[in-house]
Amino acid sequence: MSEKPLPYSDRIALGDSGMVIGPMAYGCWRFADTDVRTATARIEAALEAGMSLIDTADIYGFDGDSGFGDAESLLGDVLAATPALRQRMVLATKGGINPGVPYNSTADYLVSACEASLRRLDTDVIDLYQIHRPDFLTPAHEVAAALTALRASGKVREVGVSNYTPAQFRALQAHLDFPIVSQQPEFSCWQVDPLYDGILDLAEETGTVVLAWSPLAGGRLVSPKADRSDNDPKLLALIEVLDGIAEDYDVDRAAVAFAFLMAHPAPVVPIVGTTSPARIRAATDAFRVELTRRDWYDILEARLGAPMP
Ligand SMILES: NC(=O)c1ccc[n+]([C@@H]2O[C@H](COP(=O)([O-])OP(=O)(O)OC[C@H]3O[C@@H](n4cnc5c(N)ncnc54)[C@H](OP(=O)(O)O)[C@@H]3O)[C@@H](O)[C@H]2O)c1
Repeated sequence: MSEKPLPYSDRIALGDSGMVIGPMAYGCWRFADTDVRTATARIEAALEAGMSLIDTADIYGFDGDSGFGDAESLLGDVLAATPALRQRMVLATKGGINPGVPYNSTADYLVSACEASLRRLDTDVIDLYQIHRPDFLTPAHEVAAALTALRASGKVREVGVSNYTPAQFRALQAHLDFPIVSQQPEFSCWQVDPLYDGILDLAEETGTVVLAWSPLAGGRLVSPKADRSDNDPKLLALIEVLDGIAEDYDVDRAAVAFAFLMAHPAPVVPIVGTTSPARIRAATDAFRVELTRRDWYDILEARLGAPMP
C-alpha cells in the first residue's frame, strides 16, 4: 500500500483573537545593515510567499557594541515607506534581552522595552510580543503583570515566549488570565530537542503555535560541504538523506528541511531567515514535498545516527 503524505496546516490561528498566520514565517535577525529598498524587497517577498508572521526582536542588529534596535528600526522604516504592508502582516517582536545584563524581565523593563519597540517599529500595536529568553531572577507573577498591562493598554495583541522550558511556560501561564499563544524554540532536523523536551507536547496540550527558529540550523544544513568546518558525520548523513528526498521532488535541501518541521502536528511554523528574496520564494517549494511517515523517520534516524528503538 502506498503511504499517504503527512498533512500540513495551512492557516494557523494565533490564539483566539482572530489572528491567522501562514504555515511559514519570516525572521529579521539578519536584517540590519541594509537599506530600506533591500529590506522592503525581503518583506514583500515573504508576504507574497504567504509568510504572514514577520518576526523580529529589539536585540537584532546588536553586534556586541552597538546596534541595539537596528533591525526593528529598519522594519519601522520599511513600514513608514510602504504603510500598506503593515495590514498584511502579523507583526511579532521580542524583548527581555538587555546587552550586558543580560536578561531582564522585570515589569518596568519589559514595559519600557515594549514601548521602545513600538516607537522603532513605527506602529501603534505589536501583534505578538514575546519574552525573548527567560530571566531567572524575575518572578513569573511580575512578568505576567507586565504582559497583562501591555495587553490591557492595547500596546500588544497577544503574548508569546521564546526559549522557555515547558515548566517555565506553565509558571508564567498560571499568573495570566489569557493564554500564551506561541512558543519559539530552536528547532530543525539538526536541533531536534523539542521532540523530546516537552515543548511540542505542550503546544498540543495548550493550543500554542510553535515558531521554529533557525530551521536550517542557522545555515549549517545548507552550506556547501567545502565551507563546513566541522564535517560532523551525523550532519553529513543527515544531508545525504535530505538530498535524496530533495532529488525525488526536484527541490533544494532547504525545502525538505522546512517540510520536516511543518509535518509535525503541533503545529510548527518555520521562521525562514534567508536575506535573499529568491530563497524566500524557493522556501515555499516545501509545500511540494509530500513527506511520508517513512521519509520523516528516515530524517530523524539520520540525525540521531541510529534507528528508532
Ligand atoms: N528566539 C530566538 O532566540 C531566535 C534565535 C535565532 C533566530 N531566531 C529567529 O529565527 C529566524 C531564522 O533564523 P536563521 O536566520 O538562523 O534561520 P536559518 O534558516 O536556520 O538560517 C538562515 C541562514 O541560512 C542561509 N541559507 C543558505 N542557503 C539557504 C537556503 N537555501 N534557504 C534559506 N537560507 C539559506 C542564509 O543565508 P542567506 O541570507 O545568504 O540566504 C542564512 O544565513 C531569525 O530571523 C529570527 O527571527 C530566533
